[in-house]
Amino acid sequence: MTYQVINVPLGERSYKILVGYDLLVDESYFRNFSENNFVVITNDVIAPLYLDKLTKTLNKLKKKYISLILSDGEKNKNLNSLNLIYDFLLQNKCDRKVVLIALGGGVIGDITGFAASTYMRGVSFIQIPTTLLSQVDSSVGGKTAINHTMGKNLIGSFYQPKSVLIDVLALNTLSNREICAGIAEIIKYGVIVDYDFFKWLEKNIQKIKCLQKEETVYAIKKSCEIKSQIVIKDEKETGLRAILNFGHTFGHAIELGLGYGNWLHGEAVGCGMIMAAELSSLLGYINNYEKIRIKEIIKQIGLPVYPPDFGFDRWLSLIELDKKNIDNNNNFVILEKLGKAKVDPVSNEILKHTIRNCLENKKS
Ligand code: NAD
Ligand code: GLY
Repeated sequence: MTYQVINVPLGERSYKILVGYDLLVDESYFRNFSENNFVVITNDVIAPLYLDKLTKTLNKLKKKYISLILSDGEKNKNLNSLNLIYDFLLQNKCDRKVVLIALGGGVIGDITGFAASTYMRGVSFIQIPTTLLSQVDSSVGGKTAINHTMGKNLIGSFYQPKSVLIDVLALNTLSNREICAGIAEIIKYGVIVDYDFFKWLEKNIQKIKCLQKEETVYAIKKSCEIKSQIVIKDEKETGLRAILNFGHTFGHAIELGLGYGNWLHGEAVGCGMIMAAELSSLLGYINNYEKIRIKEIIKQIGLPVYPPDFGFDRWLSLIELDKKNIDNNNNFVILEKLGKAKVDPVSNEILKHTIRNCLENKKS
């Protein structure tokens, strides 16, 4: 079986990301593990699609496994589901040698990773991401979390997986809407650090939308490479890693303002990137042409390009709320140019100007 390999060098926490087609049936991958006690954690949407495929491979290799099927959805990324995992592991007498396998999107990946980081003070886990967003973002870099009633991802840890297996074929059952939301995060990598990749995306974005094999594998591999390069320099987000949050403050405001689930995270981030581009242009960094190119590529995949009109005051308070949840400062990820981002404090005046412009663009 052919696949691309990306190394994530983090000392004793180093791991490999494999990207390829139909890797769920790749016996050689699972044969490499000396461990023989796996727990597959997935949900009731993914299980009927991929659990059999994965367990057949484990069966062929005579690997021991048990599976836990959680309920689907962001609303279940909580302490209750986490407890179901702990109960299952304890009831099945899993010791520290157990390896958890997260088979699913970002929700399953985040919660399984957090369970792995805390069960018996930490056991190994493998990420098998099945959404585009999780393949290019959440499965890489070791952020794990559950939600709290006070906000998203507030309880979590940095805990790297043992390995990441990206089977691009699994995307074939994903809805078009989820695919487009994942593409927003791919575009983000080009915008923040790699202008050549951005130019390549401008030419190939429709092929990725249609999941054409060669271009999709390339875009996923490139995204994982870019994210890994950032993570190895700043694993615990003390500085540089924050640029991965480009467009996210505005995006989080949209998600919260509309109520979680109305826009997908990637949809909100896509629109948030347009707003962050406006901010960067008002600060005198990117020019009008660069701003238009960002908006155009997001428009081309059919993602929303205009923010919801909550009214100016509500917009400001939503942004303040997100800032409070994160670190109580006024820092934003801004573009120095297309392909280069940095984090800088932004005055309230410029922020207000940005929101006004974005809301007015919608009207004009
Ligand atoms: P998700 O996990 O909820 O998956 C979206 C939907 O697609 C779900 O209904 C899921 O069951 C279904 N699904 C998954 N794979 C499928 C497939 N192959 N075919 C058909 N349906 C499939 O959402 P997501 O967008 O993957 O992830 C969002 C989560 O990731 C959020 O909780 C977010 O906080 C988290 N996240 C984490 C990081 C990180 O660095 N850890 C980064 C970004 C996002
Ligand atoms: N998704 C942003 C990060 O992993 O840092």
